[in-house]
Amino acid sequence: MIELGDNGRLWLLSGRTSSYALHLTDREELLHLHWGPRISVADAAALAREPLPPPWPFESRLDGVEEYPVEGGPRFVRPALSVRTGQARGTEWRFADSDVDGDELRLTFTDPANGLALTLHYRMRDDFDVVERWVTAAHQGADGALELLRADAAAWTLPERDGWRLSQLHGRWAAESRLVRSELTPGEKVLGSRRGHTGHQHLPWVALDADGAATEESGEVYGCALGWSGSWRIAVHALPDGRVQINGGAGHDDAGLVLLAPGQAYTSPVFAGLWSGGGFGGASREWHAWQLARVIPRAGEPRPVLFNSWEATGFDISEDQQRALAHRAADMGVELFVVDDGWFGARTHDAAGLGDWSPNPARFPGGLKPLADEVHALGMQFGIWVEPEMVNPDSDLYRAHPDWVQHQLGRSRTEFRHQLVLNLARRDVRAYLWEQLDGLLSSAPVDYVKWDFNRCFTEAGWPDEPYPQKLWVEHVEAFYALLDQLRAAHPRVAFESCSGGGGRVDLGVLSRTDQVWTSDNTDPLDRLAIQHGFSQLHPARVMAAWVTDSPNEQLNGRASSLRFRFVSAMAGVLGVGGDLNRWSAAELAEAREWVALYKEIRPVVQLGTQYRLRAPEGGLSAVQYTRGDDTVVLAWLQAQRHGELPPAVRLRGLDATAAYECLDTGAVHRGAVLLHRGLATGLRGDLDAAVFRLRRAR
Ligand code: GLA
Repeated sequence: MIELGDNGRLWLLSGRTSSYALHLTDREELLHLHWGPRISVADAAALAREPLPPPWPFESRLDGVEEYPVEGGPRFVRPALSVRTGQARGTEWRFADSDVDGDELRLTFTDPANGLALTLHYRMRDDFDVVERWVTAAHQGADGALELLRADAAAWTLPERDGWRLSQLHGRWAAESRLVRSELTPGEKVLGSRRGHTGHQHLPWVALDADGAATEESGEVYGCALGWSGSWRIAVHALPDGRVQINGGAGHDDAGLVLLAPGQAYTSPVFAGLWSGGGFGGASREWHAWQLARVIPRAGEPRPVLFNSWEATGFDISEDQQRALAHRAADMGVELFVVDDGWFGARTHDAAGLGDWSPNPARFPGGLKPLADEVHALGMQFGIWVEPEMVNPDSDLYRAHPDWVQHQLGRSRTEFRHQLVLNLARRDVRAYLWEQLDGLLSSAPVDYVKWDFNRCFTEAGWPDEPYPQKLWVEHVEAFYALLDQLRAAHPRVAFESCSGGGGRVDLGVLSRTDQVWTSDNTDPLDRLAIQHGFSQLHPARVMAAWVTDSPNEQLNGRASSLRFRFVSAMAGVLGVGGDLNRWSAAELAEAREWVALYKEIRPVVQLGTQYRLRAPEGGLSAVQYTRGDDTVVLAWLQAQRHGELPPAVRLRGLDATAAYECLDTGAVHRGAVLLHRGLATGLRGDLDAAVFRLRRAR
């Protein structure tokens, strides 16, 4: 809901429990008024009447109070917008127009000196607390080029408090989305990626709680998350007066984002923000609900249990061997069979074949269709792995078009995993990829595509292009456009975003994919921490997790029971990635039971409301999912110590006056007892785990 005040110069956006207010002063300064619990227009108007703090020498009266600080004039905070023309740099804007269109507010400003028209967009839906912000910058002048060195999607302002604590999700390959919280000291904390993709190093998300006072279930939390799958930057600026400004947008360094000719425009990604009064858990649940309702395509449809061949068979694949795996997978209850890397071109190892997207004739003599048909006959969907943005120099594609990769004349072409990055900003490259992928999806009944991206940009040049740095943005736009086009042409195909595990997880890619590959780390214990971090922002409905072989040969040699591996992977979208040809009859039979149990609890896990009951740092961790009358609790014990029983886990969000029957033990629990005393898990020893299904008695 958007309400206006002060003769149309004050805007109040309100959602489920919170409000956001801004004000245009007589001097045409756009000032931030409020972000927090719901207030009225009269409250916002009272805030607007409060004088700004007295100006001190050496301080700007605008810093920390503006909605979108531009470069230029009396401002010393990090600018959200930095514009360069032939003559000048910076912006001096005038208010042009405001427009309320349903739940979207648009405020347009112009800079007559350079022809820039800048529109700030705000959207807050009635039933959510998420505020979506983005900008469009258009060149409306008659001549000359206008270079956007930086055009952040938004700058968020937090209220004055004594201090702030910052939560972030950091990592690296095989260790993504690990949660860390630290005091925010004066100055700037900059997170981002200068790698061309979202990156394993940071999820584009931050959360801030005042005075470090929030807990999992109480206190005020502000969160901001960016929807962009290329290089990005979020800068959290702790200002001298206790305010915080959070800028975020595409691009890491301000080296030039886009060059606008007259008539051209740039639209930034969305930088979404929310205020929650319900602690970290409340903030996560709001993010989840909003993504399920507004971001993730077809989110109401639960994701199938998949089998993926990568850890089982690596590059050493054949049609017969995949067929054998498919039979075992189908027997286990798997619903989607995915052939990973190695099915195309000369891809018998990682040094050849990327770029040549037709089935390897020695491995799949009749193409993919015979295997796909058999998989379908077994009652499963069929999926494949692709990595369209990349090429091995040892490929037919590269031999034919060595100039199609990002490169700089006279410089090395650095290889990672023996591969180079195609320049998707080129029209001919995009046309080739469209033709290949559309052809592939038309040639065999493919239901699912795992889309990978396995190296960062290095010599990201484009010889003969006058403004080569535009490829950083245009690559991502082309990737999005390809996905959008493929989804439109093949609407029944689901897509998974992967980048060497969780290197491309963000709200931008999630608005056009059905799930993401969380991490190449499938060790079930490490995964608990990765999944705990992931859940801060994203719902279980998109978090793919596989049960693989034990001991874990890839990373650490750790041995764990099927039970522990299954319960760990059942916290998200369950998959199986072990070499089923080596599993014993007993293991296959046990796995079948776990898969059946997962299918039963799936709607609650994937679509329910999630409560993190205990974080994985301690010995015992647990997550609860509730949907309607059903509650599922997954609990894991890392190691029992001193013969002591692990503590009972206190549940959340239940009706204290109701009774709950545990379908696994038959016990009937009182809601008040589950909430206050908790549920005894009975876990013992090392790496133990259990599933509890509770149903509210009627
Ligand atoms: C990446 C992915 C893996 C697998 C391999 C295949 O590393 O994250 O899951 O698909 O590529 O080469």
